Amino acid sequence: MIKPADRIGTVQEYYFSVKLKQIDQLRQEGKDVINLGIGSPDQPPASQVIETLGETAKNASNHGYQSYIGIPALRNGFANWYKRSYGIDLNPENEIIPMMGSKEAIMHISMAFLNPGDEVLLPNPGYPTYSAVTNLVGAVGRYYDLTAETDWQPDFKVLESQDLSKVKLMWVNYPNMPTGAAAQPEVMKELIAFGRRHHILICNDNPYSFVLNPRPSSLLSVDGAKETAIELNSLSKSHNMAGWRIGMVAGKAEFVQYILRVKSNMDSGMFRPMQEAAAKALELDTEWYDEVNAVYARRRDLVFQIMDTLQCTYDRHQVGLFVWAKIPDRFKNGQEISDLVLDKAHVFITPGFIFGSNGEPYIRISLCASEALLEESIRRIKQLEIQ
Ligand SMILES: Cc1ncc(COP(=O)(O)O)c(C=O)c1O
Repeated sequence: MIKPADRIGTVQEYYFSVKLKQIDQLRQEGKDVINLGIGSPDQPPASQVIETLGETAKNASNHGYQSYIGIPALRNGFANWYKRSYGIDLNPENEIIPMMGSKEAIMHISMAFLNPGDEVLLPNPGYPTYSAVTNLVGAVGRYYDLTAETDWQPDFKVLESQDLSKVKLMWVNYPNMPTGAAAQPEVMKELIAFGRRHHILICNDNPYSFVLNPRPSSLLSVDGAKETAIELNSLSKSHNMAGWRIGMVAGKAEFVQYILRVKSNMDSGMFRPMQEAAAKALELDTEWYDEVNAVYARRRDLVFQIMDTLQCTYDRHQVGLFVWAKIPDRFKNGQEISDLVLDKAHVFITPGFIFGSNGEPYIRISLCASEALLEESIRRIKQLEIQ
């Protein structure tokens, strides 16, 4: 009998992987399900990005293995993007490493920095991959609370009242998913001071900074940040390229080297035409982001209407690719309302519990659906006559 490794028991199939099967099943039964769950941008990448992909793919010499650290054009592209967008200087030679999306980077970073038994601070609510990967590498997750009362920012007083001696790494994610909280400059400074005081690697996962966010920022812009922090970024949401799997990690050369040691043993570089096209995407000017965001802004107004229909409460100033809202008290939790809406209106809305216990009384709706689909969702949900 062949048994899987023990680590298999530490994780479950990703919630959306399971849910998508259920939605497929409903569709096969002839039900027209609208999926407002997943943050996979439905608008296209810029046309010059797709053209670059096609043109460079025609070159026979572009199909071989690529360097482990990415082509210079892509690393320079990331460095220029960071300079232009956030005012940060990064050395493209050794302070940037391209990744196949930030999700993969979470694994590489954890493999590079964590020993079994090391403790990791994880946001509750937060992106589920942080805890899954922590478990997979045998480290120990310790949740820290994010709540509406503290504007979904870490409470350093609470953290420092605890024993932090075994904590090696802390995941933060501003702009925050799922709560839509923006990065606050004072909190970013405190995070760096906290990391330096306790010798904790602060990892900021920053894929949402260009989506409906008036002030894109990077944790690396805080003085002294490179001593204790690294940052992940990605073209998935900012450039409508989620399926391409292109992201990066930035930080001081020593940290990047550790990550490269892991990554170079796991894959062999990205397809060159994708790297060339990604470099093109990183040159796009603010007008391009503005056009994409104008579409999201119109959709967000419709999502607010869905939330109003469901009698949920929410912050109209939240940023990013989703709307996060508190459910009315008479529902037990977000799952109850999500199940009701899927069952009766055939609209799928993400229940907040999948992001952690603090997400239980919340739901999250993605802006990656057309206005027509959102209007249809409003129509169907209105018929439910939620009392
Ligand atoms: C907070 C957060 N980090 C990372 C990711 C993964 O992004 P990528 O496509 O770059 O792997 C997501 C995707 O939904 C996310 O919400």
